[in-house]
Amino acid sequence: MVIDTDTAQDDCIALLVGLLDPRADLRAITMVAGNVGFDQQIRNAFLTLNAAGRLGQVPVHLGCRRPLVRPWESAENVHGDGVGGMTMDMTDCDPDPEHAVDALIRLVAESPGELTIVCIGPLTNIATATAKDPTFVDNVKALYVMGGSNNARGNITAAAEFNFYVDPEAAKTVFAAGFTITVIPWAPLTLERAVFGQAQLDEIAALGTPLSDFFTRVCAATLDFDRSVGIDGTTHPDSLTTAVLLHPELITRIGRYHADVETQGELTRGYAAMSWGVHGLEPNAAVVEDVDANAFYRHIKALLQNAASP
Ligand code: BDR
Ligand code: CA
Repeated sequence: MVIDTDTAQDDCIALLVGLLDPRADLRAITMVAGNVGFDQQIRNAFLTLNAAGRLGQVPVHLGCRRPLVRPWESAENVHGDGVGGMTMDMTDCDPDPEHAVDALIRLVAESPGELTIVCIGPLTNIATATAKDPTFVDNVKALYVMGGSNNARGNITAAAEFNFYVDPEAAKTVFAAGFTITVIPWAPLTLERAVFGQAQLDEIAALGTPLSDFFTRVCAATLDFDRSVGIDGTTHPDSLTTAVLLHPELITRIGRYHADVETQGELTRGYAAMSWGVHGLEPNAAVVEDVDANAFYRHIKALLQNAASP
């Protein structure tokens, strides 16, 4: 797999899943503008590689620094710097000189039909690769896309989830392109199944491993924000996206939908319209509707507990 990320908070935990799960073969990390400042996202990716003991083993490619046609909007009010103020010496932390879009195109061309891209930020890099190389879509095995909200509980507006809101044109392009897509939505799925409450956070903190300390630190800023808006714990949509790719048995309900993304609406920019088959539209995505929340939590906890310390 490749993970395309706007690295902050749960993106870091998703990277840990990709770096530590024995079933994962993470070929590259590609970066896209999203959650926090681009340079901070780069630092966060290297901090995560370091925490996993994998510095220098997985390339970090820098991609699009703004959405296709709109100015970038951040989620720094949610995530702070995305790593709870952690820093490290970045001397040996050099991003790969190849642009993320070119790396994505090259990697899937080298192994046609074999690589899945886990998309846990805005879809700008994926849409750009689609436009740049006509073979890209066919060479990708599948996209696992974190995004969308199919009720009125968007996290940046009532209608929209952050990743699709920030670059709705990119999201629309990707759903229309012909990829094999699995969507892991913000709501209701993440809010109902991928929130770790205080008892679980206490359990993770009590593990006392370097990785559990990393988890607790990284999630701290978001926990404060989530509590301020009535969510009782930390949210884990990106790590859930990575986990269900590696462990499809976590999925307990999944449906086929025609997905499209609103780019024009006054109140609905970034809204993910999921048509369930009665509107004459061919399905273009599988949407995860329910997962085994306890098994997902146990999976993350086990990774933090058992991974060899760096
Ligand atoms: C998405 O935006 C960010 O808050 C998370 O990283 C996740 O990818 C959720 O809307
Ligand atoms: Ca993300």
